[in-house]
Amino acid sequence: MIIRLAIFAVFSLFFGSVSGNLALAGGDAGKGQDLFHTCAACHQIGNGARNDVGPVLNNIIGRRAASRDGFVYSRAMKEKGADGLVWTEQTLDAYLANPRNYVRGTRMAYAGLHDDVAREDLIAFLKTLKFDGPAETKILK
Ligand code: HEC
Repeated sequence: MIIRLAIFAVFSLFFGSVSGNLALAGGDAGKGQDLFHTCAACHQIGNGARNDVGPVLNNIIGRRAASRDGFVYSRAMKEKGADGLVWTEQTLDAYLANPRNYVRGTRMAYAGLHDDVAREDLIAFLKTLKFDGPAETKILK
């Protein structure tokens, strides 16, 4: 019985620490929002956002590349979208680390965010950009 309890304790410790690490891997959306200021030079978000130098990034997670209505994408990005590229945490991570390497010929004039943790934070923020409710009217900049 004591052995069983001990095994249980070890298990909970193990899983406890695993879920702790997963929470870390999820990134900090608050820090990500601060990082978004660089992106906001070209991208608008929020209800009422319009395409600017870059396309609106609302609901970007799960969206196919080059699929925002009314934005004129580069040929390279359109081809990626036609080939089936969808923006997930993984593909965004690779794109934001080095946009020109991931989508050769992209018009996005951004050198890339090289800090892995900062990219996780930024993507955690991008995941919050779900604007399908009419209540949200603010354009975040
Ligand atoms: C100097 C302007 C500029 C900056 C800064 C910039 N972008 Fe972009 N972004 C663009 C342009 C232009 C495109 C369209 C690229 C193309 O058509 O090749 C784009 C495309 C994208 C796309 C693909 C969107 C789609 O609809 O497929 C994502 C995602 C994206 N940017 C995220 C970001 C994030 C996050 C940042 C901040 C780290 C950022 N961008 C910074 C100009 C910019």
